[in-house]
Amino acid sequence: MRTVYVNGEYVAENDAKISVFDRGFLMADGVYEVTSVIDGKILDFEGHVLRLERSLAELGMPMPMPADDLLAIHRELVSLNAVDEGAVYLQITRGAPADRDFAFPPEGTPQTVVLFTQSKPGLAGDAAASKGIKVISIPDIRWGRRDIKTVQLLYPSMGKMMAKAAGVDDAWMVEDGMVTEGTSNNAYIVRGNTIITRHLGNEILSGITRAAVLRFAREAQMTVEERSFSIEEAQTADEAFITSATTFVMPVTEIDGVQIGSGSPGPLALRLREIYVDESRKAAV
Ligand code: PDD
Repeated sequence: MRTVYVNGEYVAENDAKISVFDRGFLMADGVYEVTSVIDGKILDFEGHVLRLERSLAELGMPMPMPADDLLAIHRELVSLNAVDEGAVYLQITRGAPADRDFAFPPEGTPQTVVLFTQSKPGLAGDAAASKGIKVISIPDIRWGRRDIKTVQLLYPSMGKMMAKAAGVDDAWMVEDGMVTEGTSNNAYIVRGNTIITRHLGNEILSGITRAAVLRFAREAQMTVEERSFSIEEAQTADEAFITSATTFVMPVTEIDGVQIGSGSPGPLALRLREIYVDESRKAAV
């Protein structure tokens, strides 16, 4: 049984308790982060904590504790649960006021802070990447502040189910004819030596893996274009892939039933995955 962290205490997962009045539960009034673990160490903690601070600030919530304390909890959970490869999930909500109310609770209402680990042996290996994934496109009907990492994940969850029903792995969301992102990842295509991924804005989440991968791509003399692309352009690309903390760099081999390039994982995507995993492993804390 896992040990999880809830509001200052490390407890067995079965004993963990959250109020029924918690605003995360009633209103999806909370933000989260998912940080990967390789070799029992945390990947890019700084990137995740900076995005967390931004998500909180955009919703008018303070950081519940200093970043160093959050890192210490991440490390303690990884150690208590003997995680070698996997992830740490963190969620912070606006807390549990005395009753259900659309208005924000009074200032000083303690926030809810929950962290737990997920063990995923083989995460950094190549098994899944050597096969790649298939995606379908679906309309992006999420709210207008996708740059904030909130726990409103109903539509992404429905998107995964639509993908499953279509016999594929995931969905790319499309708005105004252009791809925004995957249900829980950023989307890319490759033309020649050029990597194309949507520019940042309110329409997508600024992926921490995205930032690292674009940096590594530039260092490896690949060209990076941050701009929108359509499903039609993606279907004629040489390669496609996604990035996230839980998939790293994952090749996409089919979009809406159309094979991408040779239909096998592309060489640039596989190379970027290798660089990303190697460099992240070296820099992990
Ligand atoms: N999802 N876009 C969306 C909508 C996401 O939910 C995520 C991450 C990303 C990639 O961000 P990063 O590289 O920082 O993981 C992009 C996490 C993994 C999740 O919900 O499980």
